[in-house]
Amino acid sequence: SNRKKEIKRYFYNDSFYKKIIKKKKKNKRIKQEFSKIKKYRKMIKFVYQNVPRGTGDAVLKCKNHIKSKYFLMILPDDLIVKNNCSYSMIKIHKKYNSSIIASKKVNKKDISRWGIFKLKKFIKSNFLIKDVIEKPNLKNAPSNHAVIGRYILPKKIFKILQKQKPGQNGEIHITDAIKTLINNKETFIGHVFSGKYLDCGTMQGYIKSSIEISRL
Ligand code: G1P
Repeated sequence: SNRKKEIKRYFYNDSFYKKIIKKKKKNKRIKQEFSKIKKYRKMIKFVYQNVPRGTGDAVLKCKNHIKSKYFLMILPDDLIVKNNCSYSMIKIHKKYNSSIIASKKVNKKDISRWGIFKLKKFIKSNFLIKDVIEKPNLKNAPSNHAVIGRYILPKKIFKILQKQKPGQNGEIHITDAIKTLINNKETFIGHVFSGKYLDCGTMQGYIKSSIEISRL
């Protein structure tokens, strides 16, 4: 659709960035950021999910682009500022050679908005994951530690996703594939991140987050 093209244009439209740079000629940081974008956009590949069949189905579209044993997946509507959460997760991954998912405690009343972890035990401030349930109601929730959209996942998750039957709301959930991997004895660590989480999942949260970002 045309809206999808707009996203692509955002990354490729030089004139937009050039205008900003012209205005802020003396700002070194903006210049540096622009050259970074120029470098990275050669590496950006777009894949399209033409029917909204869930996060797992969306990830599956990237299958042929993933070459390494593990990959990092970021959900764009989960913003974490002031500390690079992905970077900390990569460090933990290197140490334990396991899968990692970002996590934060959420209010009990909001539990059904999130994937929720069942904890095995804490390793320092992070924890071993025993199970994960996609958007449970408060009664069925095993904790209030929620899944936040930063994941380091093994490539073998694609095989599971390919065979997976639709779950809640008829969607192919990444959470269900993770559950299968945990049942198959794959180690998953929940990372309690130190950056600030900006919630964009409600209208009020989205507006508050936009204001915060404009002040960075
Ligand atoms: C997705 C995941 C959910 C996770 C959330 C974080 O849900 O399925 O487990 O807690 O992202 O933002 P969605 O936001 O796509 O409904």
